[in-house]
Amino acid sequence: MASINGDSISHTPKKPKLSFSSSSSSSSSIIAQTEFSHHDPSIARINNGSFGCCPASVIAAQQQWQLNYLRQPDHFYFNVLKKGILQSRTIIKHLVNAEHVDEISIVDNATTAAAIVLQNAAWSFHEGRFSKGDVVVMLHYAYGAVKKSIEAYVTRAGGKVIEVNLPFPVTSDDEIVSEFKNALERGKSDGNRVRLAVIDHVTSMPSVVIPVKDLVRICREEGVDQVFVDAAHSIGCIDVDVKEIGADFYTSNLHKWFFCPPSVAFLYCRKMPKGSNLHHPVVSHEYGNGLAVESAWIGTRDYSAQLVVPAALEFVNRFEGGIEGIKKRNHDAVVEMGEMLVKAWGTHLGSPPDMCGSMIMVGLPACLGISSDVDALKLRTHLRDHFGVEVPIYYRPPRDGEVGPITGYARISHQVYNTVSDYYKFRDAVNQLVDNGFTCTLLSE
Ligand SMILES: Cc1ncc(COP(=O)(O)O)c(C=O)c1O
Repeated sequence: MASINGDSISHTPKKPKLSFSSSSSSSSSIIAQTEFSHHDPSIARINNGSFGCCPASVIAAQQQWQLNYLRQPDHFYFNVLKKGILQSRTIIKHLVNAEHVDEISIVDNATTAAAIVLQNAAWSFHEGRFSKGDVVVMLHYAYGAVKKSIEAYVTRAGGKVIEVNLPFPVTSDDEIVSEFKNALERGKSDGNRVRLAVIDHVTSMPSVVIPVKDLVRICREEGVDQVFVDAAHSIGCIDVDVKEIGADFYTSNLHKWFFCPPSVAFLYCRKMPKGSNLHHPVVSHEYGNGLAVESAWIGTRDYSAQLVVPAALEFVNRFEGGIEGIKKRNHDAVVEMGEMLVKAWGTHLGSPPDMCGSMIMVGLPACLGISSDVDALKLRTHLRDHFGVEVPIYYRPPRDGEVGPITGYARISHQVYNTVSDYYKFRDAVNQLVDNGFTCTLLSE
């Protein structure tokens, strides 16, 4: 049984010892402390998943790009910008093992990438390649904004949407695979065609790593036309090999787990033919020159976030093992902290450790009385305002006949700047609420 500051923890891995930033001797922890001194010290920030983080050295690099532009914009536009973006795309191509740099476009965020893919689907309906009633399959736990995008582009164009029900808590990949197969069957009933599957790589809420490689393979076997993987959280958080995954489209943010400032993401489009129909929704001078080139100029704006990918790579390479080392240590740490919390509260994790990356779902004590999405949000606000803890909370409706179910799960993250004390602060806050007989009904509107 391992022990941190006297607290025993049940996770005694064969894995290497954690290098938490509280161990002041480690050079990683010194880098982490100096690079994130702009973080509000009053907050235990265990929610890297929502907005990511950006170290001081990358912020400085971004400011330098902004100044370079403002110093001589014409020179920057004609001689600097395209080359800089190509350099970022080349780094991303290597990080995700794409075949060719032309397969990688840089866009603002995963939301924009989804709009590109779904707008393409909408045109397929309008131009007769897809027929009314053709199906798009998505996970029930697809990100809310992506669901809206599917509604805006696909439902409006006459497509039918089928949701994959996913169990939560989840115990194995098999449960997900079996629900996915069911949804494809439903999609194909009545002779409909499944034109597109939208699959998350790491779902947002509740957060679980989805066996995308298996699901993409099943899509191929079942004749689904196209697969789009929404992997907003993936790069820097879990392994990404786009060739191995085999989807047609794959997007990840770099501002969540790859230390870039907002907003920068990539959209991978497999073996995109020249003259492809795929276009950026913001049309500018480069329309028709291929998605990567279109995306590199969508009007006058600040492109600096897209240009700091080399600086972010330099930052991660200062850590032992680079991004691979960071990813592994974050995973081990978040599992260890999740297990510490569920032990303290007498609850359970929302998934086995091998179904999570750098975020894990932690059951909250049932006596907190979380009985709606509104309760979950109010409790999150209460934890921020009264305890200085930033953590998102998921409401899971009880199933029929369940006795004493856990209805609230916190999604905890671990990133290089976190220390054990962040998680102790959260543990103690919840323990204090429980000791005081708090329930969510006490929180006013
Ligand atoms: C699964 C998933 N998809 C898409 C997004 C949207 O990302 P962004 O707001 O950077 O576009 C998120 C954000 O958390 C997400 O978790």
